[in-house]
Amino acid sequence: RILILDYGSQVTQLIARRVREAGVFCEIHPGDVDAAFLEEQQGLGLKGVILSGSHSSAYDEASLKVPQKVFELGVPVLGICYGMQAMASQLGGTVSWSDHREFGYAEVRAHGHTALLKDIADFVTPEGHGMLKVWMSHGDKVTELPEGFVLMASTPSCPIAGMADETRHFYGVQFHPEVTHTTQGRALLNRFVNDICGCSNDWNMPDYVEEAVARIREQVGTDDVILGLSGGVDSSVAAALIHKAIGDQLTCVFVDHGLLRLNEAEQVMTIFGEHLGVNVIHVDATDAFMGKLAGETDPEKKRKIIGREFVEVFQEEAGKRKSARWLAQGTIYPDVIESAGAKTGKAVAIKSHHNVGGLPDTLNLQLLEPLRELFKDEVRELGLALGLPHHMVYRHPFPGPGLGVRILGEVKKEYADLLRKADAIFIEELRNATDEETGKTWYDLTSQAFAVFLPVKSVGVMGDGRTYDYVVALRAVQTSDFMTADWAQLPYSLLARVSSRIINEVRGINRVVYDVSSKPPATIEWE
Ligand code: XMP
Repeated sequence: RILILDYGSQVTQLIARRVREAGVFCEIHPGDVDAAFLEEQQGLGLKGVILSGSHSSAYDEASLKVPQKVFELGVPVLGICYGMQAMASQLGGTVSWSDHREFGYAEVRAHGHTALLKDIADFVTPEGHGMLKVWMSHGDKVTELPEGFVLMASTPSCPIAGMADETRHFYGVQFHPEVTHTTQGRALLNRFVNDICGCSNDWNMPDYVEEAVARIREQVGTDDVILGLSGGVDSSVAAALIHKAIGDQLTCVFVDHGLLRLNEAEQVMTIFGEHLGVNVIHVDATDAFMGKLAGETDPEKKRKIIGREFVEVFQEEAGKRKSARWLAQGTIYPDVIESAGAKTGKAVAIKSHHNVGGLPDTLNLQLLEPLRELFKDEVRELGLALGLPHHMVYRHPFPGPGLGVRILGEVKKEYADLLRKADAIFIEELRNATDEETGKTWYDLTSQAFAVFLPVKSVGVMGDGRTYDYVVALRAVQTSDFMTADWAQLPYSLLARVSSRIINEVRGINRVVYDVSSKPPATIEWE
């Protein structure tokens, strides 16, 4: 196993991800763990330590120090950015403060033949120097090597961009090998964990399930746990994982706000209640939600109403489970970064998302978040390993307020019923249409696709009669991070089929339009 000590960098989780991708088990712990903890890790078969980057300065007396014990464990240590500086300053080198921050792309010359960088290069200069294309982000830098270290990498503005003590197997890099912008980063981390630390690359998702199950059992003991199940990927995987760990100690509360997709409630109840045998309480709160939403047209107010009502209904159900001590949530790593950004005011709230950290403290429950360290694709893989159906695990994301933000203006049950039918047709056709070039379905080729209900009426003609009915807009986007998105260039024939089916099959809709706006300046949802 590899231990990652965290000094507060935004990208520490990426280190863990890369180590997992190398097929090696790792855990992240705070940077100030004590000697007893480190000895315990040693007993568990610790093979190496990685020190993360940080926002603070190794030069600053108040900043965290690396526990000296780390350097006495006899295992290889890799310091990244701040981790390298802390290593340098604690082992007798010098770190200098700088008010000039170097940030972004850099080309680093890899010196000599250290075990870490040997034969790893992006290109070789005419003079025969191996060069690495890397991502740098630092202010301070190491200006004097500690005893026993040799220079491993340099740039003109950062003469000591890498250092190595090959006897003790201590390495430091000023750049970030964990981010994809450092093209050889993966090779470097693989080299460290597999070759230098000697970890075999046989750790995989089923192993992860076993470890996560053991951790959950240890954490909750014989206590009861409740979980808000939405049917989305994250809460579903969390539910399946926790159920595997503690069985009937878990109760899921599935709040149906009446703004779900067609047959969604039935599907959730079938998969969890019947197939997996999870205790699920289905609360049909449609009337309560519709009542609260009546007359409200403002998107943000609608979100708040839905969020508040959700919490209320959930809390009432949870309150009935007197024995529950834990509240489980499907928080995944990107949520953790996003809400950290929101707390520090770095991320501007364009739309308030109610499902992250929205549940109140008044329940007096401890938080159980078993997916907190995983990225979305890892959560999906975990879901498959737990036996969840592929279509559920690879489903497009669905917003917490559901159709509430896809019915423009006032939400009415009648509108939701029309929209559900139109949306189901669109999704069915996307799943059935295969792109010849890639062999993938258009559902898989789009990141998110849905129908939007426009509460305006337009004139149409059907048979001999005139119609005066509502409009539905189709939205399909392609994106990797949902921060920016392109509208999907769906084939005309597919759009034609969807339009014709919706107009013919959904009485009350007589016009279908396709949204050709990208984000920015538009957003993915219409509200
Ligand atoms: P926008 O519309 O902001 O959407 O481009 C980006 C992603 O966020 C989802 N989204 C939400 N998810 N509660 C959620 O849980 C919300 O209020 C909400 N609003 C937008 C949206 O579906 C897309 O995936």
